[in-house]
Amino acid sequence: RQRYTGLIDKYRDRLPVHDDTRLISLGEGNTPLIRLSNIPRELGKDVDIYVKYEGLNPTGSFKDRGMTMAVTKAVEEGSKAVICASTGNTSASAAAYAARAGITAFVLIPEGKIALGKLAQAMIHGAVVLQIRGNFDEGMQLVKDVGENTPVTIVNSINPFRLQGQKTAAFEIVEELERAPDFHCLPVGNAGNITAHWMGYSEYFEHGIVNTRPTMVGYQASGAAPFLRGEMVDNPDTVATAIRIGHPQSWDKAWKVREESDGWFDECTDEEILAAQKLLTEKEGIFCEPASATSLAGAMRDIKSGKIPEGSVVVCTLTGHGLKDPDTAISQCTEGVTTIDAELGPVREAIVSNLS
Ligand code: F0G
Repeated sequence: RQRYTGLIDKYRDRLPVHDDTRLISLGEGNTPLIRLSNIPRELGKDVDIYVKYEGLNPTGSFKDRGMTMAVTKAVEEGSKAVICASTGNTSASAAAYAARAGITAFVLIPEGKIALGKLAQAMIHGAVVLQIRGNFDEGMQLVKDVGENTPVTIVNSINPFRLQGQKTAAFEIVEELERAPDFHCLPVGNAGNITAHWMGYSEYFEHGIVNTRPTMVGYQASGAAPFLRGEMVDNPDTVATAIRIGHPQSWDKAWKVREESDGWFDECTDEEILAAQKLLTEKEGIFCEPASATSLAGAMRDIKSGKIPEGSVVVCTLTGHGLKDPDTAISQCTEGVTTIDAELGPVREAIVSNLS
């Protein structure tokens, strides 16, 4: 059996690398596709729901798929530094892959609006963390401006190698299911990931590896839903800070995905997003971050209404790990924690009262 050495090595025939390219890898990809058992039963619908648990990538999000490619190519081109704007996960991933490559990472993050785990990651991996008094969209514009005449490689999803790496998630799903799903649901921020998945499915379709492609469905948080408003949103806000984005970078590409796949966009409220996150942890034992739960929140609504019909095979991407955002997780647990004396009596009492 061959050792798994990351997605570039596995899919090198379908990625823009040479035989002698030095691969900057942390063993990303190859994430589990988990079939939900309790939630479909509760919905009372005969639908197969799978979640692609991208939170199990090395830095805890799907960004690692794109970052292994972007940093590999940056190093191949002789770059000594990478830069990105980020709501948190891209910065965590850039910091880790730059560390692996031995180059510098500059990350621009919105002050006070990134989850604690993500900030910790950027800092501990030694990135230069620039916290801006502004939001992601402003940071993104600054990165584009500064990137024009500074010797740094931009590793946001406007870097085409990012989407090349991320398309491999679709390959893995097809290999596991031995077919394409009927529906693929994703949370949408910049819309890079939905674009990358469509690229992956389309590549396998064109090569005759599958004979269908999924309907692509993108869900946004209501307070940050430019695809629903039909225009850019200037002051996006949502508890799902990862997708607190009002000016998506892959705007045109995502509209094309919607059209070509006969898909749709919809929005979820913060309450729906948090409820789906909690449902997934409590009913299935799977912990994803709030933004990731947007895919399931939307899918459940569309399954209930029949827009996603019975008999369908549905994949929801869980883009990031729940541990990224411990504050939001704890704030959702109204029961809290019980403090008791370190004695047998209170321990036994606590158990007995909770069993009944
Ligand atoms: N889910 C999570 C957990 C994310 O971190 C992101 C994007 C998305 C979904 C949306 O993906 O932008 O390709 O549509 N996070 C970026 C970041 C913006 O900086 O980490 P998209």
